Amino acid sequence: MTHEPDTDADEPTTDDPDTSERAVPDGETTARADGGTVDETTLDPWGSATVSDYRNLFEEFGIEEFDAVLDETPDPHYLMRRGVIFGHRDYRAVARAMADGDPWAALSGFMPTGDPHIGHKMVFDEIIWHQQQGGDAYALMADLEAHSARGLSWDEIDEHARDYVLSLLALGFDPEAGTLYRQSENRDVQDLAFELGIEANFSEFQAIYGFDGETDISHMQSVVTQMADILYPQLDEPKPTVIPVGPDQDPHMRFARDLADRMRYFKVTEAYASFEVVEADLGLLRETYNHREEYAENPERPRCNEAADWLADYETDAIEVKGNLVKGLRNAGQEPLRPRVRFVDQNATDEAFEALIEAVDGEKRVYDNHVDAFEMDRAAAEELAREVEVANGGYGFVPPSSIYHRFMTGLTGGKMSSSIPASHISLLDDPEDGYDKVKSATTGGRETAEEQRELGGKADECPVYELYAYLLAGDDDEFATEVYEECVGGERLCGGCKEQAAELMAEFLEDHQEKRAEWADKLDELDIDLDTDRAVAGD
Ligand code: TRP
Ligand code: SF4
Repeated sequence: MTHEPDTDADEPTTDDPDTSERAVPDGETTARADGGTVDETTLDPWGSATVSDYRNLFEEFGIEEFDAVLDETPDPHYLMRRGVIFGHRDYRAVARAMADGDPWAALSGFMPTGDPHIGHKMVFDEIIWHQQQGGDAYALMADLEAHSARGLSWDEIDEHARDYVLSLLALGFDPEAGTLYRQSENRDVQDLAFELGIEANFSEFQAIYGFDGETDISHMQSVVTQMADILYPQLDEPKPTVIPVGPDQDPHMRFARDLADRMRYFKVTEAYASFEVVEADLGLLRETYNHREEYAENPERPRCNEAADWLADYETDAIEVKGNLVKGLRNAGQEPLRPRVRFVDQNATDEAFEALIEAVDGEKRVYDNHVDAFEMDRAAAEELAREVEVANGGYGFVPPSSIYHRFMTGLTGGKMSSSIPASHISLLDDPEDGYDKVKSATTGGRETAEEQRELGGKADECPVYELYAYLLAGDDDEFATEVYEECVGGERLCGGCKEQAAELMAEFLEDHQEKRAEWADKLDELDIDLDTDRAVAGD
């Protein structure tokens, strides 16, 4: 339990502390404050949403640091600037489309299992910001998932779905420009889910989600439904799409990216001879080709077996790769070694394959299930493959991108949980209750005011500071930085700090709830059905 100096003697000063760019001046410290002891992270979409060490997510799961794309993102959101959005997959594709004025989309989904709270607000804000940046924006109610994976009744789901929708609208989602839907009402999503299900099998569900013989079929169906949600914005045309989520949803993202690839008609790779080369082996093969002067009798026309001999004696740490390549090259014998891009037929119809052959310019060689093109670079080939696919009835999916936000710490310390009312602030809480919850929150303060003045507070471990950075300071980086600097510099004491935060929270809730009420009157005009009328099996 953290005690705090209970004093309101200190007004927060407005002296200009060194306003660094991020409100969390040392993003690294925040990032790592919670890390380091537990060395195994599991990401479970239906488990408890905590992450013991965000570093693991980079090392173990291959999520990339958001900071690396921050500079390429036009006018980044404050959650991005402050490191709250800490990671991404492939966000560059979205940032580029945003900057170039190309089509792109943003989508996220919410399981309507309880009241929307300030953790959900972050995701609402992310969708809304992307909408304002010019993306096609989508928000969906994952009612099938809530019913199958969480067992909520349709009446409960209807009520919560309405609350989520109202908060999303009150925070600024434009329903005319964007799309709001319920999984259960969206026939196109369900059809797409069915198609995607053809590419997914039970062993994968076991491996990815730990499903077993006891898992309900409908729960599995909710997974392919989510895959369809994620790809839904691309039904009219392929486009980069960002899915803002918490890191617990990352298994879904990896699976969706995989399925997007598997649905493609053609897979584009590079090759140097007739045999297939996996992506990871291409580098060494390229190197081998580049050394052709050293081994080829006629460097204009190096032979595979000559390359094999050379490579066999070449020193490299990539023993296994080398082994594969030497074998492949030897088997190819006298075949010439020549760089080419290869279109492999994965899922194409006969017409699409014919159309592709037609469409490839320059020298090409046609095989049973692939076409090699000798006068085309890989990027042009990727573009052509998608074009031909879409023109011939395929989806041509771009692998979906994602961004990940940190989970907010609960106001009582520990995790923020919908089932512990004091740990979170619901967007439906009375402003006075919101005020009280902030006032009784745990802080990163010291034992006594004196100690706090001397040592400074621990803003990096303070749920109240998080409230400022994630929500209360809004777009005002200077304000967020000021709170941080004053806290760690010992100028700010917890009593006054919490009073200020509590007032801001009450104001926010009041304003938010007024806007909800305005939207409630207009909700009927929107084309989203919030009343489910179906018979259900009891359990
Ligand atoms: N599974 C998500 C959750 O637990 C909800 C969800 C359904 C979702 N479909 C989605 C999230 C598509 C992002 C994108 O909250
Ligand atoms: Fe105390 Fe505010 Fe600092 Fe938290 S941020 S430790 S509440 S002064």
